Amino acid sequence: MADLTTRLGTLTLPNPVMTASGCAANGRELHRFFDVSELGAFVTKTVMADPRSGRPTPRMAETPSGMLNSIGLQGPGIGAFLDKDLTWLKSVGARVLVSIAGNTAVEFAQVARDLVAHPAFDAVVGVEVNISCPNVANRGLVFACDPMSSAKVVSLVREELPRDFPMFAKLTPDVTDIVAIADAAVRAGAGGLTMINTLLGIAIDTDRMRPQLAAVTGGLSGPAVRPVAVRAIWQCTAAMRENRIDAVPIIGVGGVRSGLDALELLAAGASAVQVGTATFNDPSAPRRVLTELESALDERGFASLTDVVGLAHDRKVTL
Ligand code: SIN
Repeated sequence: MADLTTRLGTLTLPNPVMTASGCAANGRELHRFFDVSELGAFVTKTVMADPRSGRPTPRMAETPSGMLNSIGLQGPGIGAFLDKDLTWLKSVGARVLVSIAGNTAVEFAQVARDLVAHPAFDAVVGVEVNISCPNVANRGLVFACDPMSSAKVVSLVREELPRDFPMFAKLTPDVTDIVAIADAAVRAGAGGLTMINTLLGIAIDTDRMRPQLAAVTGGLSGPAVRPVAVRAIWQCTAAMRENRIDAVPIIGVGGVRSGLDALELLAAGASAVQVGTATFNDPSAPRRVLTELESALDERGFASLTDVVGLAHDRKVTL
């Protein structure tokens, strides 16, 4: 059996499969289908400082090979999250990657400060800084569309975390140059990158001749976006290898439904993968992807997961 251990900078996990933020609430629902502590990490729904009801309904729409969501960062706020959700995740032994966001850079830092101060923080293996949610009223608040805004958030959050604590900046592919954004985030203190968040999209109901989502725009996810995720991971990995950007680990996310999909993201340069939209029609998907990935590595004769990370860059292409 292949060794599935993965290293993400200062973080070592027994396997590389995680949930994707927002697709499995904070764990209780999935735990009815499999033990969430078996995953490399459980990634929480993005939490903000205050409770939020999110955007108006309808806020989900099916699209070809994917879906749109315009949830709008609904959540209980950091206080309730810590006392109820993080404490529960700790009680079942999950390794928790907490996804955080704020309306301002200062609010991101405030959420990080509250997190670090809580007694259940010892269950937290890392923080994912969600600077890329597309479901905000003002595109100017998608911090990851701008290198300086990204750097400001990341540096303020970094100041709140223990030294070298794993921190991943979650990026959007809806930019001209994702390498420039990644570079800014890494220079500001991100120890890793999560790529990609959803892509901004619109679907129109042709019976009503109206947008399907009440908020009009939403984030596109699912298999339709996987090639975009592979492209973003590839570009940043290539830039690291060419030294245009400091080398940091990448968590790949976007349309992973199977072990082979996960292998694709790993071969492009990711050291871990998140499973998101697939859980809506198969709640066991993250656990199944882990089993399938292990088989795929064995079938291909790889002794270790680390052998395949970025491997597609090393292969000579013959046309
Ligand atoms: C949402 O709650 O709107 C989705 C979060 C995200 O895409 O980052």
